[in-house]
Amino acid sequence: MKKYFFILILILTISNIGFVYSQKIDLSEKRIFERVDSVLSLMTLEEKIGQLNQLSFGIGWGPTVKSNVPNEFRDLIREGKIGSFLNALGAKFTGELQKIAVQETRLKIPLIFGYDVIHGFRTTFPVPLGEAASWQPELVELSAHYQALEASAAGVHWTFSPMVDIARDPRWGRIMEGSGEDTYLGSQMVAARVRGYQGNLSENNIIACAKHYAGYGGAEGGRDYNTVDFSERTFRDVYLPPFKAAVDAGVETIMASFNEIGGIPSSGNKYLLTDILRNEWKFKGFVVSDWNSIGEMINHGFASNLKQAGEISINAGLDMDMESRAYITYLTESVRERKVSEDVVNESVRRILRVKFLLGLFDDPFKYCNKEREEKTILSKEVKDAALEVAKKSIVLLKNEGNLLPLKKDYNKIAVIGPLANSTSNQTGGWEAMGDSSDVVSILEGLQNYVKSETEILYSKGCNIDDQSTSGFNDAIKTANNSDLVILCLGEDKNMSGEASCRSALDLPGLQEQLAKEIFKTGKPIVVVLMNGRPLSINWFNENVPSILETWFLGITAGDAIAEVLFGDYNPSGKLPVTFPRTVGQVPIYYNHKNTGRPGDLKNHYTSKYLDLPLTPLYPFGYGLSYTTFKYDNLNLNINKITNKDSIVVSVDVKNTGNYDGEEVVQLYVQDLVGSVTRPVKELKGFKKIYLKKGEDKTVEFTISETDLRFTAADMKFKSEPGMFKVYVGTNSTDVLESQFELLGD
Ligand code: BGC
Repeated sequence: MKKYFFILILILTISNIGFVYSQKIDLSEKRIFERVDSVLSLMTLEEKIGQLNQLSFGIGWGPTVKSNVPNEFRDLIREGKIGSFLNALGAKFTGELQKIAVQETRLKIPLIFGYDVIHGFRTTFPVPLGEAASWQPELVELSAHYQALEASAAGVHWTFSPMVDIARDPRWGRIMEGSGEDTYLGSQMVAARVRGYQGNLSENNIIACAKHYAGYGGAEGGRDYNTVDFSERTFRDVYLPPFKAAVDAGVETIMASFNEIGGIPSSGNKYLLTDILRNEWKFKGFVVSDWNSIGEMINHGFASNLKQAGEISINAGLDMDMESRAYITYLTESVRERKVSEDVVNESVRRILRVKFLLGLFDDPFKYCNKEREEKTILSKEVKDAALEVAKKSIVLLKNEGNLLPLKKDYNKIAVIGPLANSTSNQTGGWEAMGDSSDVVSILEGLQNYVKSETEILYSKGCNIDDQSTSGFNDAIKTANNSDLVILCLGEDKNMSGEASCRSALDLPGLQEQLAKEIFKTGKPIVVVLMNGRPLSINWFNENVPSILETWFLGITAGDAIAEVLFGDYNPSGKLPVTFPRTVGQVPIYYNHKNTGRPGDLKNHYTSKYLDLPLTPLYPFGYGLSYTTFKYDNLNLNINKITNKDSIVVSVDVKNTGNYDGEEVVQLYVQDLVGSVTRPVKELKGFKKIYLKKGEDKTVEFTISETDLRFTAADMKFKSEPGMFKVYVGTNSTDVLESQFELLGD
């Protein structure tokens, strides 16, 4: 009798799954959980654990679309032992895998396909650090939207992005993947990316994943995967808020990080994965491990074997196991031994099924497997136009003495010199996904296309990025001598930043500075165009070269974007999302540091400073020039005392005083002068990007209220404290106007 009842329920549920394929999806949480629970009630323990297992089709971020399903994977799918793949791509191929899942398994549960779409799928956009330099969240949202459009057309449901790790150490290669050093700016960018990827979860959207939870960017020595250890206060005030911003923006997944923090690896950290994420923040989505991060708890010395590692992780709240196979191999046994309760497994399965329902995969498992849409979308004009727009706005003008830029259109001969001048392979950046260098417009090509036949473009490579040979110098010098102006294209190889790509130096690699010095001797005007995934120490350039443009890795439209900026068709408006140190010895150096009891003073020996360096960085956070100039005046606060219920309107007049129309990022910083714990010298609390025509002025307003002034106080409560505050408004974190107000409390 019991058996027939079970079969009846099975038939009803499956027909329910099938029936709703053609229905409009009801996305209400209640209805989703009813459906989730109806599926869960039919699942065996093994099938449940299968949903928690994610495996990769190789390390698939090269331009390879897999075309056959290995038998091992086919069997795993059929047996219901896999819930997700990463690195399986293509409308057709993911369709084949999905077919096995929904046609050849007992419960027909669809697979979810994840992929690292970090700065583009096939159309490469600027690396995230570059996009953050736009200080334009709506632009970053647009970028994520288009990345999702392409990826979803190619069978991808889920991206392991945004990377929201705050990074104060540019040696750490993954600084390139995030939004820089600031918690506020980072949080704005993160929320924008989540909105852009997930949208309204139509077939053009993909699920986002905020990573790496948490503290990963605080790696000691800037060495990837390294130990992290800072106070709970710093953790909560600096490193956690971007994750909270992602959760508030509705991110559906979170990735646990590789690192330990305070002695506990994230993949086994219940405080992080359950207490903060679920109980404090009410996160409803699921948590995926990083690649084998469950297994790596053995190396951390936190688990004796893979079975125990899996038990620690699932009990801590880690739902899906990426690649360590701990869950699929041992979890059934652990449940039988009562080391893990089946309720804990059920909860993880519910979270994963919920996301599959949200994506509409139960209703139409082939929603993302439309070959025609894939062909139409990939590299379409619409996506490429968006990439160009984002690329131009990611560029930061670091120096422009004598107004060499924008370039006049009457040069007869321009020499384009340097290892990155004709490079197409580097512009696709550190996470190129399906990006292909054959799609890239190099700087050389971009300039040639731009000037057409009116100006002769000469080219010489000079040296390789990390060369130790000067054999190409003579040709470069000759080329420079033969020209009226040199555009020197220098920087890093794309593989010098990104995962496991940390550097102990921040100078230009190889002999590039030496090459620049030789070109400098020719006396020709020089514009340096930098391409890199991290802040660089470029003191000699700052002292000697008239114009410097920071272009990061801009993606496939790099050459066009750079040409348009060099010739002034687009007036650069980017600002640094991260401090550029004078030397690696200053690291960590960030604008929102504490004062110390002996603030740095070069004239006073016993103060906090270096004997051999100025107190300041090379370029401060928020810094970036324009071809025009802006003047700030009349910083005004409408009131100077507020209670916790009021707010202050801060206004400032900004005037375009130069010769070009342009955009400016007006930045608002606040300093809490005295607290129950020490407070940073400045904290970004707002910014607005405005457009001003030549000669035009505008009054820009910000609002500050008590909630903007909260921090983790001495009692570990997140709150504000009455007292005096300074307000700074300006063009970067250093050049500011100043005023003050008092917070009176309740
Ligand atoms: C990285 C993650 C990435 C994952 C999957 C890991 O090595 O740390 O950021 O999402 O691989 O490719």
